[in-house]
Amino acid sequence: MRKIVIAIDGYSACGKSSTAKEVANLLGYSYIDSGAMYRAVTLYFHQNHITIDNPKEVAKAIENINISFIFNERKAYSETYLNGLNVEEEIRKMYISNQVSKVSSISEVRKNMVSQQRKLGKKKGVVMDGRDIGSNVFPNAELKIFMKADLAIRAERRQNELLEKNQLVPIPEIEENLLARDKMDSERKENPLIIPDDAYILDTSELTLPEQVEYVLQLATEKMIKYDG
Ligand code: CDP
Ligand code: CDP
Repeated sequence: MRKIVIAIDGYSACGKSSTAKEVANLLGYSYIDSGAMYRAVTLYFHQNHITIDNPKEVAKAIENINISFIFNERKAYSETYLNGLNVEEEIRKMYISNQVSKVSSISEVRKNMVSQQRKLGKKKGVVMDGRDIGSNVFPNAELKIFMKADLAIRAERRQNELLEKNQLVPIPEIEENLLARDKMDSERKENPLIIPDDAYILDTSELTLPEQVEYVLQLATEKMIKYDG
């Protein structure tokens, strides 16, 4: 069957990346976590004390950033590398979550990331999740999913995820971060988080991960058959 592009967008902690990873594994597609790219840039800016409202400094810094994904066989997913170093764990920490939406609203950052993402999906056979994948990175994606879920459920999921990494973050702090990011991501000037007209909207509040995966797989199969014929 011919390969398609699957774009999964939506709010934070709805289950986009867990679903995307599993769907990609099952289809033999590659999985690209576009949020991880913005998180890696944020980590670089943080470590190198980049003044983010200085466009020249930002542009120069971006030239020194190399982001790659390397598949970890044991974990069965790709991990994020920043200039050759595995930053998968570091970029998920709260201090990065608290800065990432500001960094990802910078025009120079978006242009660079979007161009890299388009290259990564050029040959199709890719599942990419983020905020602007269906609306901007791949407006012609064969399948677009938009995920949402209740705030309390999202916060609980994120808290559990952080607990598994031995980070105890109180629910109010997580909710504050999720709401602030939802707002900034939706209101920014360039490539805001919007629901594309042709996206399937999935509320994951009451769903399990296997149910989400099943939903996406079924649609993907339909699209592949249509695309093939
Ligand atoms: O995992 P979580 O949903 O919390 O966030 P993420 O997917 O890792 O994305 C982190 C942040 O990167 C988002 O809150 C956005 O500010 C930014 N982002 C973006 O602007 N565009 C994308 N395509 C993906 C992420
Ligand atoms: O990518 P996004 O931020 O949308 O969410 P995620 O990182 O895939 O999911 C956040 C956490 O919620 C993960 O630990 C998932 O395993 C969990 N999750 C869940 O418990 N039940 C679901 N139906 C979906 C996600």
